[in-house]
Amino acid sequence: METETRTLELVFPEHANPGGNAFGGFVLGLMDKVGSYAAIRRARKRCVTVRVGEVIFEVPIKVGDLLEVVAKVVRVGRTSITVEVEVYRENLKEAKVLATRGNLTYVAIDAEGRPTPVDPAD
Ligand SMILES: CC(C)(COP(=O)(O)OP(=O)(O)OC[C@H]1O[C@@H](n2cnc3c(N)ncnc32)[C@H](O)[C@@H]1OP(=O)(O)O)[C@@H](O)C(=O)NCCC(=O)NCCS
Repeated sequence: METETRTLELVFPEHANPGGNAFGGFVLGLMDKVGSYAAIRRARKRCVTVRVGEVIFEVPIKVGDLLEVVAKVVRVGRTSITVEVEVYRENLKEAKVLATRGNLTYVAIDAEGRPTPVDPAD
């Protein structure tokens, strides 16, 4: 089983306010996207987001920053999967630092959109 799912993303001006700080919603969207990839890899089924848990924005993210989004499955329930997501920031002047972290929960669904079991043994 893959234990980590990673994506790189550059922050463009359209992701930021006029002060150059990335919108929280942009970062949350990335976290949800990469978190869902981790859940889908684990479940090998379609998954939907059921809960966005506590998200902490620890340091600002700016236009031009390169973001590395790292998602790790931390809990597998009967039909749900909880993923811890970390967003690291780096740029031409600064090394990689943890900028944002949070946890999200996904539910595996069948073709009718109903919760369906995740293989516990994987
Ligand atoms: C996710 C969804 C399929 C769950 O349906 P449901 O009938 O509430 O499901 P259940 O009550 O049987 O719960 C299914 C699992 O979800 C978990 N769950 C339900 N609500 C939860 C919540 N608020 N927080 C965390 N887990 C939750 C349950 O604990 C259960 O986990 P388990 O099987 O591992 O024990 C349904 O709520 C849904 O379709 N929501 C919309 C999803 C969506 O569109 N997401 C994108 C957001 S725009």
